[in-house]
Amino acid sequence: MLIDYLDQNRQRFLDELLDLLRIPSVSADSKFKDDVRHAAEFVREKLDAAGLDDAQLFETAGHPIVFAQKMVDPALPTVLVYGHYDVQPADPYELWKTPPFEPTIRNERIYARGACDDKGQFYMHIKALEAMLATDGLPCNVKVMIEGEEEVGSDHLGTFVAQNRELLKADVILISDTSIISNETPSLEAGLRGLSYVEVEVNGPNRDLHSGVYGGGVANPINVLTQMIASLHDEQGRITIPGFYDQVVDLTDAERAELAKAPFDLTEYERDLGIDAVMGEAGYSTNERTSIRPTLDVNGIWGGYTGEGAKTVLPAKASAKISMRLVPNQTPDEITELFTKHFGSIAPAGVTVEVRPHHGGLPYVTPTDSVEFEAASRAFEDAWGKKPIPTRGGGSIPIVALFEQELGVKSILMGFGLDIDALHSPNESYGLFNFYKGIETIPYFYKNYAELKK
Ligand code: BES
Ligand code: MN
Ligand code: MN
Repeated sequence: MLIDYLDQNRQRFLDELLDLLRIPSVSADSKFKDDVRHAAEFVREKLDAAGLDDAQLFETAGHPIVFAQKMVDPALPTVLVYGHYDVQPADPYELWKTPPFEPTIRNERIYARGACDDKGQFYMHIKALEAMLATDGLPCNVKVMIEGEEEVGSDHLGTFVAQNRELLKADVILISDTSIISNETPSLEAGLRGLSYVEVEVNGPNRDLHSGVYGGGVANPINVLTQMIASLHDEQGRITIPGFYDQVVDLTDAERAELAKAPFDLTEYERDLGIDAVMGEAGYSTNERTSIRPTLDVNGIWGGYTGEGAKTVLPAKASAKISMRLVPNQTPDEITELFTKHFGSIAPAGVTVEVRPHHGGLPYVTPTDSVEFEAASRAFEDAWGKKPIPTRGGGSIPIVALFEQELGVKSILMGFGLDIDALHSPNESYGLFNFYKGIETIPYFYKNYAELKK
């Protein structure tokens, strides 16, 4: 029996995940290049050991893609599992209670970089597949593709997908790389925001100047940049870039009412973040602001003197990294262009402005009345005893919209993370409950999907 198999192998499943978490597969930093490959090989080996066929690495111009499959019967539907074995940089290291790549279990949680995003989550799939293959068998065909560049924009995956349509042919894509509301209130994300990410540079005088000798007489790039950034929102919290909202599809009152059913405790939210009030676009709830509305945020800003003590200097330049989260039907190309045009136009005389686009991605929504969504919804009911609440997620997984474009296949976002998992932050963690419950939920998806597709 599957349940017995899961029970008997609990400790080994966890030990293997901890081994994977010890590999610092930071895709953004070339100093970890060999570790990234090591993680790919580890995943390949585990797919092979789980009983899947053709487990292999596909080389790209960047980090390798791991692939394996098990074709049970051409008459059965095919599930393509996607995940990523790369992780975000762990800095700042000094804020970690225990080192990011020495996984530690405290309070029933695994603390390590990638514990939730996404090693702990995609590894549940490998273990669920192993368990199904070792016991009752797989009720669907399965293909597994785990990439190593998600955290840096999946630059080479797009090409790989376009060139391997036959290999990746599937009826549905199953992804665990998102979150649920809470362990008491499971939910299923029916959408993701898109992303447009730019770096801006404001250049003033040809060198750093004495801020007494020149101050007051020359445009200060930091003063200018911060003023320009401040002008990107109005008093209502709306973004002032002309045309920014033109393509935004507003939700109907009924859709908003549906989403508002998700339980949300504002006081608890504020307390968790250590803030005394939330803020955002007027006329929308916190949940709406962080999911169905587009945003613009400075992610980093620098320039001038930031060392110890005081240096009186009027800097020659200032820079910032800015992300814009997009909703249907905004596109990163169009938004990046609108931003670039607007940002150039508001620069005062005395400075020049440069905008450099980074990666981006399209927003994504999936219908909640499909058999695929139903199969996932029932899987939660089977394993958690509760129907999951459909939500819209605020994060981005750019490849999901690309899967739809290139393969014509919809994705199901069956994530098991929690907000407290601190993705991308110091002390990232993943609950043991979520790891094991996820492994238990996944086989129900296969069973339900096979039945619903009959
Ligand atoms: N797994 C996250 C996305 C996510 C997290 C979606 C939580 C929903 C809930 C993913 O690994 C991620 O971090 N994506 C990046 C985008 C990427 C292009 C760097 C993001 O959202 O910032
Ligand atoms: Mn992720
Ligand atoms: Mn991430």
